[in-house]
Amino acid sequence: MRSAIRKRLIELFTTAQQDFVSSQQICNELGCSRTAVWKHIEDLRKEGYGVEAVRRKGYRLLHKPDKISEDEILFGLSTEVFGRRIYFQEEVTSTQLIAHDLVNEGVPHGTLVVSDHQTKGRGRLQRVWHSPNGTGIWMSLIVRPEIPLYQAPQMTLLASVAITEAIKQQTGLSPSIKWPNDIMLNGKKVVGILTELKAESDQVHAVIIGSGINVNQTADDFPDELKDVATSMRIELGEKVDRAALIQSIMYHFETRYDEYLKHGFQPIKQLWETYTMTIGKRIIARTVNGQYTGKALGMNDEGVLLLETSDGIQKIYSADIEIQ
Ligand code: BTN
Repeated sequence: MRSAIRKRLIELFTTAQQDFVSSQQICNELGCSRTAVWKHIEDLRKEGYGVEAVRRKGYRLLHKPDKISEDEILFGLSTEVFGRRIYFQEEVTSTQLIAHDLVNEGVPHGTLVVSDHQTKGRGRLQRVWHSPNGTGIWMSLIVRPEIPLYQAPQMTLLASVAITEAIKQQTGLSPSIKWPNDIMLNGKKVVGILTELKAESDQVHAVIIGSGINVNQTADDFPDELKDVATSMRIELGEKVDRAALIQSIMYHFETRYDEYLKHGFQPIKQLWETYTMTIGKRIIARTVNGQYTGKALGMNDEGVLLLETSDGIQKIYSADIEIQ
């Protein structure tokens, strides 16, 4: 199907939501005959769209295929800037690597890199991020805030708040944030965030916020070593989640919180982070590169540093794996 017609047809159905669109309206919008409309609908069905046809009423969209593409994300996107420029590829090594190249090419603030499958997904602390085909959201958002270097971790905390809000809104689930930015459901990790920077002296040029979001995996899709520690929204909810709609919602919440951050600073974000976190007030073990610390998590300062009350006094934790006791 010619791509402009396909785009317009999906747009028409998306705008109508679950309502019927008459054949005549489709003919007028696409500038083609009823027979041509029927052929276009058949093409959509072959691509996995469920389209119902009823005499004298027209057509309506029952469901979309569980796939993400530039078009699927753009139709229904309600942001001004975030996600308006999308680089989508079905398979990549890592969306982070592509985002780094794009930053060097000078792409604008709000650019989003998305893929259906990563062959070399990267996690924090040099780990591998399991990114199987067609089930999760593997994406990197490029933002260009004019902030000094020491404030950059605030972007990660903003990201974890925005993603938590979007998951709540789209699924009704209640995720919680484990410091610094893992998002958890029933004690298992559902989202990991990896933030990387391009900066010069003390000025940030770009922040690349990579999110690995486990959406539609079944328990069998996780390798044995992850089965006890990772989960997906589908496992927790018992049904599949529309990945394109979730990306749209994340972009909306991200932009809203980012604008708020520019206007009012970090405090509102910090407060939200504290309402969504499961770490503060708990006894935890923090495993850092310098050793292991046990104590009560008192809170987080404005630089995103975790303050831990240990038997030897207050310890600042900059980066660690956290175990909640
Ligand atoms: C973590 O270790 O918790 C962070 C995982 C981040 C994974 C995402 S998936 C999209 C982006 N591309 C990558 O290679 N990594 C991040």
